[in-house]
Amino acid sequence: MVMIKKIILKNHVEGRMVQQSDFDVQSVEFNYEAVELAENEIVIKLELVSVDPYIRGRLSAAKSYAASYKVGEPMIGICVGRILKSNNPKWAVGDHCCGELPWMEIFKFNGNRGIYKVNDKLVPLETYLNILGVVGLTAYHGMREIGEPKSGETLVVSAAAGGVGSIVGQIGKIKGCRVVGIAGSDEKCEFLKRELGFDAAVNYNSPTYRKDLRLACPKGVDIYFDNVGGKISEPIFLLLNQFARIPVCGAISMYNSAPGDSVGPHCQVHLVRTSTRMQGFIVTDYSKKNGEAIRELSQWIVQGKLKGKTTITHGFDQIIPSFLSLFSGSNTGKLLVKMDNTNQKSNL
Ligand SMILES: NC(=O)c1ccc[n+]([C@@H]2O[C@H](COP(=O)([O-])OP(=O)(O)OC[C@H]3O[C@@H](n4cnc5c(N)ncnc54)[C@H](OP(=O)(O)O)[C@@H]3O)[C@@H](O)[C@H]2O)c1
Repeated sequence: MVMIKKIILKNHVEGRMVQQSDFDVQSVEFNYEAVELAENEIVIKLELVSVDPYIRGRLSAAKSYAASYKVGEPMIGICVGRILKSNNPKWAVGDHCCGELPWMEIFKFNGNRGIYKVNDKLVPLETYLNILGVVGLTAYHGMREIGEPKSGETLVVSAAAGGVGSIVGQIGKIKGCRVVGIAGSDEKCEFLKRELGFDAAVNYNSPTYRKDLRLACPKGVDIYFDNVGGKISEPIFLLLNQFARIPVCGAISMYNSAPGDSVGPHCQVHLVRTSTRMQGFIVTDYSKKNGEAIRELSQWIVQGKLKGKTTITHGFDQIIPSFLSLFSGSNTGKLLVKMDNTNQKSNL
């Protein structure tokens, strides 16, 4: 008997921290060698799973920009898989695919449904879930369409050591900005300065956070790329320059809060005072420009201007713990789970 594991959502999660017991890891029999494939069907083996904060939004039954997950069904996320068997002319055994896939070790899939080919001979597979994936596109579009960086300006980015934030800061450097990162530990701040060339980095857990931020932005703030929302944004509003821009990318500090929890910041007066433009966005708002974005991001990789930092955990059983660890800041760079079943944690 060949058993494979899958992760099922047990219940929707509203207004509290998501936890392991909200999911069920089930073993089911699936002998892919014996399975019959209908026309266009393929068998995929998961190789890399991207765990992302947006998944938290889909765990709620509340209406949002992405549909809620269904209770009792396998979780779905952006993954890279390898084709084990094919009855689809587009897919050969050994090809790699990327797209929204179920969190199952091996499964049957319609090869014409929303997946695209990726090639590990061009770049490592991790890159398709990092710089050339959602986080890279989010950083690129948010900076280009809303941040509009100009040489000499000051860019502040929150969750700076994470997937999106680490790319935003590097794009800021490419565009000639002074780049200031905000992160949750001194180690992450050191990493931002030493490995990614940020001009300054500030730990929001330090008792001197407000003062440190002020000192790091002697000429004020022209762009605040906000991944976090909530209290840590408050002091940034006091530093805004005339005609500043605030791409609101995410609000991870609020994703596990109950509705009505006090979150701040009180920003309107500062937006008016400085004629600042604050605009939320979803990466798919700019999908038509993805081709252009991928071309430029790829060039920056080749030119050595953009580094893709990852934290990688190992084994199917690490998917949920890794997802949960996003909310305690365990990761530096993009957090991915590799299905190599060494069952060890790395970098966490
Ligand atoms: N708009 C879009 O289309 C779009 C697309 C992708 C992602 N996003 C958003 O972008 C943000 C970053 O996503 P990502 O995938 O790159 O994740 P990430 O930054 O790699 O991981 C999340 C990071 O957020 C920080 N964090 C967690 N809880 C926090 C809290 N309560 N207060 C302050 N910081 C906290 C942690 O870093 P520290 O150690 O520094 O606290 C953690 O490492 C998220 O808000 C996400 O929802 C938006």
